[in-house]
Amino acid sequence: MSEHFDVLQVIRNRRSVRQFEPKPVEREKILTCIEAARLAPSADHVQPWRFVILDEPDVKNHFSREVFSGPYRFTRWAMKAPVLVVLLADLNFVVHRLAKVIQKIPYYLLDMGIGGEHFVLQAQSLGLGTCWIGWFNFKRAKQFLNISKGVRICGMIAVGYPASKLIPKEKKRKPLDELVHLNRWGNRITM
Ligand SMILES: Cc1cc2nc3c(=O)[nH]c(=O)nc-3n(C[C@H](O)[C@H](O)[C@H](O)COP(=O)(O)O)c2cc1C
Repeated sequence: MSEHFDVLQVIRNRRSVRQFEPKPVEREKILTCIEAARLAPSADHVQPWRFVILDEPDVKNHFSREVFSGPYRFTRWAMKAPVLVVLLADLNFVVHRLAKVIQKIPYYLLDMGIGGEHFVLQAQSLGLGTCWIGWFNFKRAKQFLNISKGVRICGMIAVGYPASKLIPKEKKRKPLDELVHLNRWGNRITM
């Protein structure tokens, strides 16, 4: 019989962590999180995700000063994250272009979201804290990292060991019955 892993428990325990222990994170653990992202589903199996790991303190600090300035200074807390992982999408896939025209949906962002969250949940199960970051200067990040044409920055994930006394409380969530419609829109479930 296969072993039972409680995914919901990992999901329940996850928080966006913005305060970290100063301890470095093993590169191997980051690569395990990327392995989890690599195994994610993607539209037409194009696997558009690419990752830049920033774990060298000097490079990371220089990068942080570039991308968390001006209106993005609200994200300065992330300067103290031991690792930043930039999420990028390769845009050169026909299925994504077709979806944009026909389905009017940027499929590559769906793919990136799924891959990124696989990363986050794997990190959680390794005892690491993470926070998705969308609020940073994409243009400067692109220049700093020398990103190729046809590759787009979609976000970033801050990673580190959570500052143990500062693990955030669970955020209030919308109840299930506000989110679910049964068989047709407007037909609510009663719980
Ligand atoms: C795509 C995305 C972008 C986000 N960008 C930021 C950000 O720039 N700065 C930040 O502090 N939190 C950011 N967050 C974290 C959210 O604020 C957080 O997930 C939400 O408040 C729920 O809290 P929880 O993750 O602790 O459950 C982002 C989350 C997502 C999914």
